[in-house]
This record gives sequence, C-alpha cells and structure tokens, in this order.
Amino acid sequence: MRMESGTKIPSHVAIIMDGNGRWAATQGKPRSWGHAQGVESIRACIEAARVAGVGYITFYTFSTENWGRPESEVSALMDLLCEGIVNETPELARQGVRIVVIGGRGALSDKVRTHIDEIEQATAGGKNLTVVLAINYSSRSEITRAAQQIAARALGGDLVPVMVTEQTFAEELYTSDIPDPDLLIRTGGEQRLSNFLLWQAAYAELLFLPVMWPEFGANEFNEALAEYARRERRFGKIDN
Ligand code: IPE
Ligand code: IPE
Ligand code: MG
Repeated sequence: MRMESGTKIPSHVAIIMDGNGRWAATQGKPRSWGHAQGVESIRACIEAARVAGVGYITFYTFSTENWGRPESEVSALMDLLCEGIVNETPELARQGVRIVVIGGRGALSDKVRTHIDEIEQATAGGKNLTVVLAINYSSRSEITRAAQQIAARALGGDLVPVMVTEQTFAEELYTSDIPDPDLLIRTGGEQRLSNFLLWQAAYAELLFLPVMWPEFGANEFNEALAEYARRERRFGKIDN
C-alpha cells in the first residue's frame, strides 16, 4: 500500500513486538521458532519505515523482566540477536540505516555487548533511518537512573534542584537524542505498555493490534501509518 501524498508520517514509530510464543504454539512449534520468525517482521518494518520516510523506529527487543523466562528461551533470544546483528549489519549500513541500542548493557554477556558495539559503530554514519533496539530495557530503571544522575549533579554543585526541568530530565534518559514516539504499536492483543517508554510516550498515539508479531509485515506497518494519519492529535488543546 502506498501512502497518499500529503499524509502525516510519524517521525518516530515505537513497537512492542508481542505474540511470538503464542503464534509458534498455533503452528505446533517451539517458542524459539516464533522468535526466529519475528526477525522477518523486523526486517520488513525497517524496510517499510525507510520507504515511508519515518525517521526513527524503536523495537522493544528484550525487557529486564524477560530475564525471568526459562534460561533456554533467554539464550535463544540472545543468540538470535547476535545472529541478526551479524547477518543484517552490511545491508543496513549500505541502506544508510543507523542502529542505536538503549537499555542497561551491564547485565548483557560480553558477546552480546561486543556485537552491539560493532553494529553501532558500523552503522553510525547512517542518515536515512535510525533503528533503536531496546535491549535489557526497563522504563522505570531508565527513569530511576536519570534521577540518580540528576541528584549526583546537584550534590556536586553542578545544578540546583529548582533548575531541574523536563528538558534536564529528558537529557538523562537513554533516548536523549531521540525524539519522542508519535505512534506506539503493540501487536499480540495485550493492551499494556509493559514498562516501555513511559516518559517518552506521554503523547504518543497508541495502537493495540490483535495480530501476532510474526504475522506483522510491510502491509500491516503501512496500515498502522494510515491509522496514525487519521488520528487527530490535540495535545490538550481544542480545535479552533
Ligand atoms: C515477544 O513475544 C518477544 C519477546 C518478549 C522477546 P513473546 O515471547 O512475549 O510471545 P507471547 O506473548 O508469549 O506470545
Ligand atoms: C513485552 O512483551 C516485552 C517485549 C516485547 C520485549 P512481554 O510479553 O514480555 O510482556 P508481558 O509479559 O505480556 O507484559
Ligand atoms: Mg508476550
């Protein structure tokens, strides 16, 4: 589906990719198979976002809460992540796509950290689209960490508490140089944020879809853009 000219395109689309495990179960396959199929959906969305002229696309890849899954599923997810990075880096770099990772890196293995560093470096010059991967991400941890950094700066005499603004706060988040999402999509039928971009999504348009993530492709992405274009964003004001 092509977007009509003059259609509002979101600068930043954030996606909670949910439903891999349930989708795999419907196919009589293990959950890890669902995750592997989900990588195809990521590829399709990156391409569709680039074609549509979206500036930023964020994928919720692994939450801090996901460590609570069985060890075998966690390691399958980490292996897929490393494999995806190795396989996709050359093509993404060629397409001018920049990859940025947000989340706590300390808890990741050396191998995953090395792959993350490599893809960030290899794609740093990309100007056509920024892909943000939220890995070991928790919005509450991110906000808490920002508060710690601001408190440390205040104690160090670098700033006075009354001078702390929303801007000061936003600058201490992982997303300091990423605009707030305009459109937040969650696949898989659940209607919750699961600790994702709580600060940043204050005024995002929310779109909860029943489709499972492995079934989400370019057509579904373009449909979501069309739905966004139909929304009226008021930001608390009223129409004139
Ligand atoms: C989303 O799919 C992928 C991750 C959380 C990493 P799920 O694995 O949550 O799949 P469901 O929701 O159990 O079907
Ligand atoms: C959210 O999905 C996390 C990611 C997509 C990475 P979950 O499946 O982990 O969320 P809950 O458990 O349904 O809230
Ligand atoms: Mg889930």
